[in-house]
Amino acid sequence: MPRSGLRYPIRIVRPELLELAPAESLLAYAEDTRYRTVLADPPWRFQNRTGKMAPEHKRLSRYATMTLDDIYELPVARIAAEQSHLYLWCPNALLAEGLETMRRWGYTYKSNVVWYKIRKDGGPDGRGVGFYFRNVTELLLFGIRGKNNRTLKPGRTQTNIIGTRKREHSRKPDEAWDLIERCSPGPRLELFARHHRYGWHQWGDQVQPPALQLITT
Ligand SMILES: C[S@@+](CC[C@H](N)C(=O)[O-])C[C@H]1O[C@@H](n2cnc3c(N)ncnc32)[C@H](O)[C@@H]1O
Repeated sequence: MPRSGLRYPIRIVRPELLELAPAESLLAYAEDTRYRTVLADPPWRFQNRTGKMAPEHKRLSRYATMTLDDIYELPVARIAAEQSHLYLWCPNALLAEGLETMRRWGYTYKSNVVWYKIRKDGGPDGRGVGFYFRNVTELLLFGIRGKNNRTLKPGRTQTNIIGTRKREHSRKPDEAWDLIERCSPGPRLELFARHHRYGWHQWGDQVQPPALQLITT
């Protein structure tokens, strides 16, 4: 359990926020908090929306997607601190759109972390999709806003690769949250979150509540 989490208690997404348009919902969720770190894994809409890997595949109904304009228009710049870090998951096919999202949200691209998806035996997990190449990597773009805004000290020795196995559809590796907690300060906000992470504010329409913990005396 990261110690930093103690300073930023859980903030749930109240059901009425899900009735609002995404931009309004996010502003209402953030209240007066200005985030030093934002992590986002947007529900990008792909051209092929019927294939088995598509998020909105009818029978598998994983989650709704958003248009690029709706993603661009999220008021992230308004809820970010003057000095802030952004980590943005971006599919290889949408790199240009990912960089544009970063710019529209008020951040300047600086670097990236590569998630290399491996099998149990350490080899590349080639079960993914890809029209031109079989993708075994995903990119976590890193951008900043504000001057003199380097990563925290552990970031200077942090390598920019995570090599782990895949889990459920779209689920990102826990090592990404570990890395961000080491390298970027709180308060931290996760956009389009699904799985509870202690110490973060998490906004999205599928955020799970924290698991009950057994307290022994
Ligand atoms: C790519 S998934 C996030 C996966 C997550 N990072 C993980 O590791 O499990 C995108 C999420 O955005 C949510 N979403 C889609 N449209 C939304 C909206 N209008 N407002 C809030 N969340 C939305 C989806 O339901 C889905 O949970």
